[in-house]
Amino acid sequence: MEKFEPFFRQRLQSPVPLLSSITNHIYRSKGKRLRPLLVFLSAKLNGEICQKTYAGAAMVELLHTATLMHDDVVDDADRRRNSLSIKALWDSKKAILAGDFLLSHGVLVALEHQSIDFLNIATNAIRYMSEGELQQLERARQLEWSEELYFDIIRKKTATLIQSCTLIGAHSVGATGERLAAVGRYGELLGVAFQLRDDVLDFRSSSITGKACGNDIREKKITLPLIFALKKVDKPEQKRILSLVATASINSRNVKEVVSFVAEQGGLEHTEGVVHDYCANAKRALDIFPESDAKAALLDLAGIVAEQKK
Ligand code: IPE
Ligand code: IPE
Ligand code: MG
Ligand code: MG
Ligand code: MG
Repeated sequence: MEKFEPFFRQRLQSPVPLLSSITNHIYRSKGKRLRPLLVFLSAKLNGEICQKTYAGAAMVELLHTATLMHDDVVDDADRRRNSLSIKALWDSKKAILAGDFLLSHGVLVALEHQSIDFLNIATNAIRYMSEGELQQLERARQLEWSEELYFDIIRKKTATLIQSCTLIGAHSVGATGERLAAVGRYGELLGVAFQLRDDVLDFRSSSITGKACGNDIREKKITLPLIFALKKVDKPEQKRILSLVATASINSRNVKEVVSFVAEQGGLEHTEGVVHDYCANAKRALDIFPESDAKAALLDLAGIVAEQKK
């Protein structure tokens, strides 16, 4: 991961002053680097980390960073990584265009290393992500709250990219067959758990997460904690809560009330339980691999996601 940083930083450079000030900000406000870490660990699990692995790790982090910049425009979110989001610091137009710059760089890194297989995996992930994000917008507009559609959306918008990390890592060292399938399964389950965790954290204090609390409610995104809470009450109460959500964007008291309702009905604990189940299944997907440092780290990582606080 240490060697990864300069490799990644080099990819963020541009001679255009506006772009370089945006990319400097991105580099300074680092994320957790979960996706490159998954690329490296999955490569190590299946062989020796090589130049192609670095290219894969840089590609996924570039794509991820681009999607966050676009995501904050879509979600109208002003806070990101304990700082202001790009769209808040500059504006939405610049966040979209700078996001496109990073996306294209992700593609270029893969092309430089003649990694068409990486492009195939990652482009599919971006395709699903766009579909999931659009489904989510439509679902919010209709205040739809089925659990089935929720899981379909989080699989598409988050799990596919996280799965692409483990697939790309394994690919970079030539893994095939059941090994590739096993790391893909681990990545998908971990990805679902990760988004569930993020959706729980959205109900928690912003000082912990570095993002605003209640932004999902404000955006009428009905996530598992709220779905569970709604299922526990009668129809008139469901209607009342949904009407609070409907006007939450213009009334911050509504956000607070829905956040308390979810906590009182046990929506957060329930979702944490589901996260644990997904992480346990993710760990089981690695059963076919013999013991190794990389396997132990991937198992630990699933444990960390299950307990993740930010
Ligand atoms: C945020 O991802 C987007 C989600 C899929 C929830 P991360 O929480 O991995 O973002 P950074 O890179 O650490 O900021
Ligand atoms: C993120 O979902 C999924 C992406 C496609 C980026 P969120 O919108 O919940 O992510 P955060 O909470 O803003 O990081
Ligand atoms: Mg968001
Ligand atoms: Mg979003
Ligand atoms: Mg979120």
